[in-house]
Amino acid sequence: MAALRVERCLPEGFLGASLRADALAGLSASPKSLPPKWLYDERGSELFEKITRLEEYYPTRAERSILQVVAGEVAAATRAVTLVELGAGAADKTRLLLDALRAAGTLAEFVPVDVSESALTDAARRLMGEYPGLAVTAVVSDFEEHLGLPESAGPRLVAFLGSTIGNLLPDQRANFLAGLRQRLRRGDWLLLGTDLVKEVPVLLAAYDDAAGVTAEFNKNVLAVLNNELGATFDPDDFDHVAWWNPEAEWIEMRLRSRLDQTVAVPRIGLSVSFAAAEEMRTEVSAKFREDRVRAELAAAGFAMRSWWTDQAGQFGLSLSVPD
Ligand code: AVJ
Repeated sequence: MAALRVERCLPEGFLGASLRADALAGLSASPKSLPPKWLYDERGSELFEKITRLEEYYPTRAERSILQVVAGEVAAATRAVTLVELGAGAADKTRLLLDALRAAGTLAEFVPVDVSESALTDAARRLMGEYPGLAVTAVVSDFEEHLGLPESAGPRLVAFLGSTIGNLLPDQRANFLAGLRQRLRRGDWLLLGTDLVKEVPVLLAAYDDAAGVTAEFNKNVLAVLNNELGATFDPDDFDHVAWWNPEAEWIEMRLRSRLDQTVAVPRIGLSVSFAAAEEMRTEVSAKFREDRVRAELAAAGFAMRSWWTDQAGQFGLSLSVPD
């Protein structure tokens, strides 16, 4: 098998430094908050995988059902030579795109991009085994700050699936899309997955499942702070909360302190107090409408060419070009 090429775009020590900076800022703020990216250590990624198989968590199934229908159409429209995938988690959905592009006869290279080098290279090696002859370049990068794309042949199709874009706040989203637009050339394409606004009980159930997997996933961020920063959080001292923010149209995950408590976070020299019932936001997961997706893409210099949803209208997938 050909060797896996790995390109590293993150500066030395970047992840540790940004966790410390995020924790210092977020735990000192009022109200407290932490960026959702820190939910995903090895355990967090496993728990997210488990979430995608829950009855209540419809987005993964809904997006897959769209791709099953339209992957061929995407391949025919883009005739992509390079498939770039931002966030390497979605292996089965990736295969739908790889298969369609291979059937169209255009595919030469796959470029998975992720912050976690181990998750990324594991997934990349597995795919190399399944797609002999496919060149694979794994890019270790943070797609918000250091998005590096190799000088691969075009047209390139950049897939950003799973509604991961919904984890960014509106201004971060605008920056991300504008930065991505700058790195793309005419003839390239963006395939973007966005979860849609729907009945609140359906949304709340998806983020507060009966089996408690999402609760465990949420509390895992405390274990990350304990492991990485020497903090003394007891996950049992917090409750999982999923809340729909009707103005912003996003789900928030929060951790609510069960009691008055003070937690040490030695590696950032902090001692953090929580009042009983105080809530700390750990994630926003924005829900979209077609018009808003189109408008945000347009503001970043993309023109939407196609918009698809699943049959129940739960999830949207859009295909856009640099304007
Ligand atoms: C991976 C960011 C798309 O927001 O739905 C799942 C993460 N959080 N359950 C989402 C998540 C709670 C997920 N994304």
